[in-house]
Amino acid sequence: MVTTQLLQVSTIEEVRKYIQRVRKEGKRIGFVPTMGYLHEGHISLVQAARAACDVVVMSIFVNPLQFGPNEDFERYPRDLERDRELAANAGVDLLFTPDVKEMYPRKVVTTVSVAEVSEPLCGKSRPGHFDGVATVVMKLFQIVQPDAAFFGQKDAQQLAVISRMVEDLSVPVEIVPCPIVREADGLALSSRNVYLTPEERKQAVVLFRSLKLAEALLATGTPLREIREQMTAMIKAEPLAEIDYVEVMKYPELVSAEHAEKGERICFALAVRFGRTRLIDNWITTV
Ligand code: PAF
Repeated sequence: MVTTQLLQVSTIEEVRKYIQRVRKEGKRIGFVPTMGYLHEGHISLVQAARAACDVVVMSIFVNPLQFGPNEDFERYPRDLERDRELAANAGVDLLFTPDVKEMYPRKVVTTVSVAEVSEPLCGKSRPGHFDGVATVVMKLFQIVQPDAAFFGQKDAQQLAVISRMVEDLSVPVEIVPCPIVREADGLALSSRNVYLTPEERKQAVVLFRSLKLAEALLATGTPLREIREQMTAMIKAEPLAEIDYVEVMKYPELVSAEHAEKGERICFALAVRFGRTRLIDNWITTV
C-alpha cells in the first residue's frame, strides 16, 4: 500500500494551481480519468501511472454527455468516500471531483467527434456516446495537462477513439493502454458489475469463456467468421444473455477483420446484456 497525502479539489481553478506548482518543480504528471466507484482495474491504472510519473492525478466525474437518454446516468454507482480512501491508498496525489456545473456551467455547444472508429460496436448501440467521451477527455486534458494518461484496455474502442483524437489534434499527451483486470473466474472488472443479480453474475462469465474459445480456435487456424459464430452460439446458450454484438475487427482501426493479413492486430469484441446490465469485453491479438 502506498499512502500519499491525497489532496481533493473540485474546481478547475484549484487543479490549475496545483499543476502550475508541480510543473515548476519539473514533475512528470500522470493522469487517470475515471467515473468513480473504483475497483482493482482503476487501481492498476494508478499503479502504472505511479511507476511512470512523479505525480498522479485522478478525476472522478460521472459525465452526463456520454450517457444516452435511456441509459444509467442517474443510477450509475457512486461512493465518493470509499473512492477517496482507495485513491489515497493507491498513491493518487490529486483527486479532482468536479460536479456537473463545474464541468459544464453552460449548455455544451463545442464537442469533439472522432469519426469512423466511433461508429461500429458500442458507437452503433450507444449513439453519441463516444462524442461525450472524447469531449470530456479532451476537456480534462486541457485542465490537467498531463504528460501521460492511463486507460484500461477493457474499453478497447474508447482507447482507439482517444488515441485517434490525440493523434489527429496533436494533443501532447502520451496515451498508455493498461491490461484488463479480471475476477478469479475471468469476468472483467467493471463498476457496472454491481448491477448483476447472483444468477446473472454466474452467467456473465460466458463473455470471458467465449474469448478463451476464440483463442483456442484461432490457434488451430479456424477462420475468423467461424470463430465468431461459435462464440455467438456459446453466449446464446446462457439463458439470461442477450447479445448486442460479437465482432472481430482490425485494431485499432475497427474495420472488418475479414481480410486481415498475417501480422495484423485484431480485436474480438463483445457486448452482452444481462437484464438491465450491459457488459463489454474483448481480446486483442495478432493474426
Ligand atoms: O472509462 C471511463 O470511465 C470514462 O469513459 C472516462 C474515460 C473517464 C470519460 O468519462
